[in-house]
Amino acid sequence: MNILITGGAGFIGSHVVRLFVRNFPHDHIYNLDALTYAGNLENLADVEDLPNYTFIHADIADLDDMQDIFSKYNISHVIHLAAESHVDRSIHDPLIFIRSNVTGTANLLHAAKDAWSGDNNRNNHLFFHVSTDEVYGSLDHEGMFTEETAYDPRSPYSASKAASDHLVRSWHHTYGMPVVISNCSNNYGPNQFPEKLIPLFIHNIKNEKPLPVYGEGTNVRDWLYVEDHANAIESVFREGRSGETYNIGGHNEWSNLALIRVICDQMDEKLGRPAGSARKLITFVKDRSGHDFRYAIDATKIEKELGWTPSLQFEEGIDKTIDWYLENEDWLDNVIDGSYQEYYDRQYNQI
Ligand code: NAD
Ligand code: DAU
Repeated sequence: MNILITGGAGFIGSHVVRLFVRNFPHDHIYNLDALTYAGNLENLADVEDLPNYTFIHADIADLDDMQDIFSKYNISHVIHLAAESHVDRSIHDPLIFIRSNVTGTANLLHAAKDAWSGDNNRNNHLFFHVSTDEVYGSLDHEGMFTEETAYDPRSPYSASKAASDHLVRSWHHTYGMPVVISNCSNNYGPNQFPEKLIPLFIHNIKNEKPLPVYGEGTNVRDWLYVEDHANAIESVFREGRSGETYNIGGHNEWSNLALIRVICDQMDEKLGRPAGSARKLITFVKDRSGHDFRYAIDATKIEKELGWTPSLQFEEGIDKTIDWYLENEDWLDNVIDGSYQEYYDRQYNQI
């Protein structure tokens, strides 16, 4: 297989690329990424010299480039993660989300259809679209999202992801393209850009900066360790049935405030500060516009059909995550000051 993984320099994509480079040694992994602010090749320094790995610097919004890449590298399988991913950015700058998430996905589907020219055998080809539980909208205190839940996206980000999911299904129904879609809950772990709640708060606590809690902090998210998500993606890639959707989640719901307090208390202990120091940094700020109240995933289907379950308890996952950010201060500093973006030039353009 020649497997094209898009968005592989980002948070989840880097864990997926690493897993696939190691677990598919006889196949070739092409990591295609535009290296936006969220793309960081430092995330993959440990695999970049392996013989079955190639980085391709390209933008999925460029159709000609996508068609050239499918033909030049004889791409047989796609795992599509490239996207603008941050809800707050989508509120301030929605059009870039339409460009990358909607047009970009359509371009990849179009290029794949041309390149695979009617060979719709699931063993030969697969278009795997990685999506989010946010397409299902917002839950009240009760209930969970299943694969049957009607789509009800409410932010420009989730609407753009919902649109891309619909495009992928339409290529399956209209052209018979072998596709699978996964919809996952909130991920946490190493390599996440510090605009998202957990790495932002770890960074702020370390630097004794305010912790901006939106609204009253009562919103609920269902957290999954990123390597468990990558393992789920491998299971769906290997065994997911064409045309199907698989929800992925950790059965691990936390209100934002409860989660933040856990992080505060663990950070005080790890940094040797007096108990309660970090909690004093909590600052309630204006709520996010249209803030979805609660997400919760029912992951029964992937558990029953593919035997996937999360391997890590939350207590262990959050402990590992905080340790990783504390032990990788350089990574965090490079991301905060923007110098991580020079890595590509140093490594690939020999500057
Ligand atoms: P991220 O923002 O960390 O990474 C996105 C990557 O895509 C970056 O490397 C970026 O450079 C690249 N990219 C963006 N636009 C591009 C374009 N036009 N062409 C090529 N590359 C481009 O995102 P993430 O959190 O790793 O999310 C990855 C995928 O998983 C997204 O599709 C997201 O919707 C989905 N997802 C994320 C979560 C989560 O909790 N983070 C949960 C479920 C699903
Ligand atoms: O559910 C999956 C989604 O999870 C993914 O599709 C998205 O790509 C990913 O970014 C994430 O979206 P959220 O909006 O849930 O994640 P974020 O880390 O931005 O926020 C988590 C919660 O914390 C949310 O209720 C908003 C709140 N929050 C966030 C930030 C950044 C704060 O209270 N303060 C903050 O500073």
